[in-house]
Order: sequence, then C-alpha cells, then structure tokens
Amino acid sequence: MEQEKRAWWKEAVIYQIYPRSFADSNGDGIGDLNGITEHLPYLKELGIDVIWLCPVYSSPNDDNGYDISDYRNIMEDFGTMEDFDRMLAAAHGLGIRIVMDLVVNHSSDEHPWFVESRSSRDNPYRDYYIWRDPRPDGSAPNNWASSFSGSAWQFDEKTGQYYLHLFSRKQPDLNWENDKVREKVFDLMTWWCDKGIDGFRMDVISLISKVQTFPDGISYDGLYGDSAPYTVSGPRVHEFLREMNRKVLSRYDLLTVGEAAGVTIQEAMKYANQDQTELGMVFHFEHMGPISGADIPLGKWTTVKPALKDLRPILNKWQTELEGRAWNSLYLDNHDQPRCVSRFGNDSPRWRVKSAKMLATCLHMMKGTPYIYQGEELGMVNCTWTLDECRDIEEINAYQQYVTDHHMVDGAYMLACFNELGRDNARTPMQWDDGPNAGFTVGQPWIKVNPSYKEINAKAALADPDSVFYYYQKLIKLRHENPVIVYGVFEPLMEDSETVYAYKRKLNDKILVVACNWSDRDQPCNLFDRADGIEIISNYDLHRMGILQPYEARVVLITLDT
Ligand code: GLC
Ligand code: CA
Repeated sequence: MEQEKRAWWKEAVIYQIYPRSFADSNGDGIGDLNGITEHLPYLKELGIDVIWLCPVYSSPNDDNGYDISDYRNIMEDFGTMEDFDRMLAAAHGLGIRIVMDLVVNHSSDEHPWFVESRSSRDNPYRDYYIWRDPRPDGSAPNNWASSFSGSAWQFDEKTGQYYLHLFSRKQPDLNWENDKVREKVFDLMTWWCDKGIDGFRMDVISLISKVQTFPDGISYDGLYGDSAPYTVSGPRVHEFLREMNRKVLSRYDLLTVGEAAGVTIQEAMKYANQDQTELGMVFHFEHMGPISGADIPLGKWTTVKPALKDLRPILNKWQTELEGRAWNSLYLDNHDQPRCVSRFGNDSPRWRVKSAKMLATCLHMMKGTPYIYQGEELGMVNCTWTLDECRDIEEINAYQQYVTDHHMVDGAYMLACFNELGRDNARTPMQWDDGPNAGFTVGQPWIKVNPSYKEINAKAALADPDSVFYYYQKLIKLRHENPVIVYGVFEPLMEDSETVYAYKRKLNDKILVVACNWSDRDQPCNLFDRADGIEIISNYDLHRMGILQPYEARVVLITLDT
C-alpha cells in the first residue's frame, strides 16, 4: 500500500461560513465579521480546525460578494479591515485557521480594472477582460449561456464590442491569457498571505482558461449553448496553476481547494496531484447531479430527488480512483446547494435527526478532508419560497428566463424546483436560538428566516446531549484521534444494495467498517454480525442482528493481531 504524505489540511475539518447569513452584530440585518468573532467559541466547541470564509471583499453584491470591486478591502456591510484583523487574531488564538475565498475567474464590473477596460478600445486595461466583436448581424460572438441565464456576452455601446461574463453581467471574466492579469492576481494573493491567512478556496478555478477560438456550444434548452467543453479545464489551466503555485502558494503553508465544476477524475489528478505542483484538493460536482430520471433540460432545475443508487458509483469512484494519486474533499452541501438533510436524507420531524447523523457519518468516515456548511451541524433544513422571497440572482434570473420570457414551465413548478435546489435554502440565517429572527439579528434580516428555528437552533442543540451538534463534535474528535479515518485506504462494501452505503477503511493494523442505511425502513446488513471490533460511533443505542434500522449508521473499529 502506498503511504500517503501527511499534511495538516488532510487531517483537518473545515467549517464554511457565509458571512451575510451567519451572525449580525450591529442590527442592520446583515451578518458581519464581528458577528463571526463573537461566535468563534461556538466553533471551538464544535471542534473544527479551519474556517472557509465566503468572500468578504468590497463588492456591489450582485452575487453576494462573488463580484469583487476591491480585492484588498472589506465589504462595508461586513465591517472594516480592523474587524478582519481582530477576527483573524482571535481565530488563531483559538487554534482555528482561516481560508479565504479567492474569486479571480471574474471581478465586478465596478472594479477599477473593468471601469478602465470598458472606457476605450486602446485603454491599457482593455485586455484585462475578454472583448470580442459582434457577429456580422450584430449578435453575440457565440451562443454561450451565462450560468445565471441569458447570453454570456454583454454588448457595450461605448466601444461597440461584447465582453464575456460566464456568470452575471456584473461579473466580467478576467483574461488569464494576459500576463499582467496573472501578475496582479498573484500580487493580491501574496498580500493576503503576508497578512497571515491560511489558504484559499478558489472560486470556479476550472474556468480560467478558455479555448481562444470561442466556438458555439450545444444547446440543451433550445435557448443558449453550453460553454463547458471550451471553458472547463481549458488548454492552459494547469500551466496557470503551476505558475501560481511557483510564485505564491509554494512559499506559504496553505490549504488550497479549487472549486472545479465539471472536473473529471483524470483532471482532478492533475489539479490536486500528490507532488503538490498545483492545488491541495478540488471540489468536484458529480454527486451534486444530474440525477437519473430528472426532467432536464431546465439547466440544473428539477424536483427529482437523488437516490443512493445514483450516488454510490460516483462516491465510490472518487474514493478508489484518487487513492494514492490525489486528495479528495468531502461535502454534501455548501452555499450553492440545498440543505443536505432535505436533499439526501429525510427532513420530516420523525427522521431529521437520525438521517442528518447518518449522512454525517457516511461523509466523515470517507477518505478526504470534510467540509461542514454552517447550520449543517444543527441539521438545518430547506425552506419554501415565493418569488418575492427569493434573493439569489440565479433563481431570480432562471424564473425570468424559463417562466416569464419563454413560458417553458409554469411559476409553481419553478418554485417547486427552488424549494428543492435553490441556493437560498442554504442562505437563510443561521439559527442561533428560538427568539426573534432566530437570534441572527435584532434588525430586519436581509433574507427570510426559516420558520424551523423554533425547533432547530444552536441553543437547543447545545442543551441536548443527543443533538446533531454533539454527533458532529464526536465525528471530528474521532478523526483527530484515529489516523485510519484520515489516511486509511477505502474499499467499497455491499455494492449491490439499493439502500445501504457501506465501506471499509484500512491502515496498518486498523480496519474501520462503516454502514449507513439511506432509507426509512429496516434493511438487511450482516457486516456487524461477528463480534470483533469496537463500535466508535452510531446514531442508535441499540442494534439488531442482521439489520440496519431506518437511517441507522454504525462504525466499528477493528484492530488486527500482528
Ligand atoms: C461559485 C460560487 C457561487 C458563485 C459563482 C460565481 O460557483 O460558489 O456562489 O455564484 O461561483 O462566482
Ligand atoms: Ca451587520
């Protein structure tokens, strides 16, 4: 067996914070940095090692901070650079590291670089972005869709050209072909590293290199074309990342994770290679969909729930094929996904706690670095949405395109899709207690509070020894104490089962056996019938021979005689 190189970020558990929705310290209804600082002891109690902070830089907030207008400043809504420094010092004082979100596939259209760039065709910053002439009939240079609906090209009257924006019109793509752009990005990264931050989560980093002929893409919805074949893991992406690694990353001791929608295993092995010439790990998206039987093509929108049989081959493949070659990251939700207990588990009052613990077990015992999204440790659930309540640009634009403009589906269906998959499900305020606005703010919250807060909140969880919170705390502690959970080789078990996800992990004389029932019925499982090994965690106190009870999860650690 190949021995894995040790690294602190392989042994760590990461907690993701969406600052706008975490904790509001000054009553303006928007979460902020001081709110995070106040709640650091809560995270210390949970036991996490690292915070991934979603973007906190200056931004006009077209996409909640993923549109940056000044990379070396803090968004006014969130506080000041002094607040940031205080938060960083306080976190470090508690032994918690902080990883920043690096959004450099695009900037805001209000960034001074773009303001210059659009001012004239011969401006020195023109080539910082991707400008192309219209086609002869005046239409966009190609048919690519923006991820947030509509064309990926925006015509600019003043200079008579189109600029590329794979996301919103206010998120023009930077031109990584330009050496100066790369230098500027490396400079700002160095600036943050010198401040003492501990790493970067790199936003849509798989998209930074585009095929320079910009061909049309296949159209699935009959409206716009798919740019993925020409933008995902493009021709120079690895060259760019190796340059970034040489010039910045290799000079510090950082956690780096690339958000890599559309990435294949073959590509992931390059991004996150063992020699560490690019990044530490990537987020792949295969287990986030599409789902068999789903009524695609409305982009990502569907009401069909994923089934274990769809997920198993994906989860297993990423475990076994990266073994010894590249490091995995493990997640079931984040700020762009619905709540995992609603999507993959069962959020009914009867099964919410059991299934949230089952999913957590399943994920945290796999090989890779686990990520917890704020509120996941409480078993927070999806919300229901009216159009007026939606805040997310992706949802609002999708409704406009598919319902209002093109009548492809009716509004009720679109909202049902949002209830299932909308990003706003993850962005409702953190539920701290059962008081007004869930204790998130004393003001008017920027987005609706999920009415579930009366039941589901941090205060209640901390008072209940059987809560989802304490279960996560235990999972984290087990990882810190058992190298087999970090470094053990993964081996799938019970691959024919429709409802039980099971696997082994093996390191030297230790074997871990993990089994999780993804259904609300008893299921046969004989993995634990022999009495060897000790149970290290389970969401049931009593077990039954040959059976896993509804949403039961069990982990047994066996020590071999040597
Ligand atoms: C990433 C972010 C998402 C954002 C998009 C554009 O996918 O996670 O929130 O909207 O990039 O920056
Ligand atoms: Ca605030």
